[in-house]
Amino acid sequence: MSIIFSGISTAFGTKQVLKDINFEVSTMTFLLGKSGAGKSVTLKHIMGQIPIQQGSITLDGSILSPQSRSLCGMVFQQPALFDSMNIFDNIAFGLKTGNKKERVLELLHHVDLDPSIVTKMPHDLSYGMQKRVSIARTLAPNPRYLLFDEPTTGLDPLATRLISDLIMHVANTCHVTCLVVSHDIGSALRIANHILFLDDCRIVASGDPKTIQLSTNPLVQAFLGRHAVCSDSFVN
Ligand SMILES: Nc1ncnc2c1ncn2[C@@H]1O[C@H](COP(=O)(O)OP(=O)(O)OP(=O)(O)O)[C@@H](O)[C@H]1O
Ligand SMILES: [Mg+2]
Repeated sequence: MSIIFSGISTAFGTKQVLKDINFEVSTMTFLLGKSGAGKSVTLKHIMGQIPIQQGSITLDGSILSPQSRSLCGMVFQQPALFDSMNIFDNIAFGLKTGNKKERVLELLHHVDLDPSIVTKMPHDLSYGMQKRVSIARTLAPNPRYLLFDEPTTGLDPLATRLISDLIMHVANTCHVTCLVVSHDIGSALRIANHILFLDDCRIVASGDPKTIQLSTNPLVQAFLGRHAVCSDSFVN
């Protein structure tokens, strides 16, 4: 069960953003890179918001289609809750059938929020709680893949840790495979199984956290900062 990018190349006019990108998302995968590297474009290809120009993306072995895309849920950087709806209605928004009350309570449990908040409005909640609600809303239709675009940007270190713990918790308890686009190397090293670095239109480093920590790629080194591990061995 995986999402596989094969030979994806994308340009906007004369600006090349992705060039022959190949990778697989089958576990907790983090995609890191500088601003403007093409991380969000990568997610938008999966969500169908930017058409594929060259190459292919398969989901569970078949070319990505509008139908199979419904197995993917996207969590945006901003919680983007509906201001005029209470928390229950926000989470239940994507639910078409079944016992909505039961499901909303189950989802609140998954994201570690108290059931009593269902009658509150988004502005009554802290930013961190709103993010949890937005994750619950995305989980509501039972996606198999969760895509996160910078889930911890703008959060303090404590909230960052809580949200990355939550992503890991949700991945395990809801059996979802996650692709997390981020600048947050600390969270990546802590919870990812696989880390990819995008630079200059290509994947320039790829591997598990230990491998990444040993990478000599200058961009990876710059991201690692204090997380770098000195080694004589060359692993890219
Ligand atoms: N729809 C579009 N039309 C034209 N250019 C676009 C479009 N979407 C993205 N781009 C360009 O593609 C490049 C990559 O953008 P993208 O948003 O993927 O970067 P990013 O890696 O997500 O950066 P950040 O970390 O700042 O979010 C940028 O130069 C951006 O201006
Ligand atoms: Mg982006």
